[in-house]
Amino acid sequence: MESSWIKFVPDAASSMAGKVDALYFYLSGVTLFFSLLIFGVLIFFVIKYRRRTPFEIPRPIAGSHKLEMLWSVIPFMIAMSIFVWGAQVYFEQARNPKGTSEIYVVGKQWMWKIQHSTGQREINALHVPVGRKIRLIMTSEDAIHSFYIPAFRIKRDVLPGRYTDQWFEATKTGTYHLFCAEYCGMNHSGMIGSVVVMGPSEFDDWLSGNASQLAPAVAGQQLYQSLGCVSCHGANGEGGRGPELAGLFGKQVVLNTGQTLKADEAYFRESVLNPQAKIVSGFGPIMPTFQGQVSEEQLLQLMAFIKSIRIVNPQPSTAGPGPAAAASATRSTANPPAPPVRTGSPAGR
Ligand code: CUA
Repeated sequence: MESSWIKFVPDAASSMAGKVDALYFYLSGVTLFFSLLIFGVLIFFVIKYRRRTPFEIPRPIAGSHKLEMLWSVIPFMIAMSIFVWGAQVYFEQARNPKGTSEIYVVGKQWMWKIQHSTGQREINALHVPVGRKIRLIMTSEDAIHSFYIPAFRIKRDVLPGRYTDQWFEATKTGTYHLFCAEYCGMNHSGMIGSVVVMGPSEFDDWLSGNASQLAPAVAGQQLYQSLGCVSCHGANGEGGRGPELAGLFGKQVVLNTGQTLKADEAYFRESVLNPQAKIVSGFGPIMPTFQGQVSEEQLLQLMAFIKSIRIVNPQPSTAGPGPAAAASATRSTANPPAPPVRTGSPAGR
């Protein structure tokens, strides 16, 4: 399709692109077929049943139950086929598959700030490997933006004060457009960039090319020290006033209300910015808020660190193939005193 002089569809460069396109071709086909049918029949009837003499009295119409049934049942089946097919594609798009690597995206008037798990940062550009599943974790510093890559057929709102995510798997190397698809102020139209899909080994070279930047998990570990998180959550003697954080991510947490919830990204965010909202069973409401003290990017770094300290578990965990998490745990020796990490006991209680 790319070679044609009119582009009917954007480049198709992700595993979902073909599926989304097929659905749209079906929708367009159904629309076209019925438009032609209705207009054709309309013109035919206008001629066939035209008035032939002045003061002609039309013959009375006899209804047909058969016909009524036919044009009720057929459109119903067609509408249901659109619903079922559309729901299928939607669920596949909306559910994160297993084994994704994470990339952090922060939207800001008017740029996209991206950080890879190794520390590599980029602005208005996103480098990704072909054939690997990527999960973007996204938030905004200000207005509502929308992260849109037409060639991947993905578009997801990026909201201040919460995380949204979106997965994709690129299938074709090349450079593609990246847009903001939600009006976000004066330079909204300039909030664009490019997505570069590289071969896997080429991508790994690119990723290791700029080692001067701290991996988010390592930067997060430094924040963990400097913000004093370690004095309550740390495992080195002074801990115990706050829940153990190693191994916490993705686990079930019991709150003092008896409620149970999953320790996910949203819960982490709330616990840092509004610690009194959900208190883990067995602990007091003593944690101060860090609202205004940590930037969106620092929050993501802290989260990357908390996620990484489950990797001490010798079993290869659910952390995905991303090189980052493992690196952060081992590389920590080069940095300020690392909180010793506990293995074993189910964390967070
Ligand atoms: Cu950001 Cu429009």
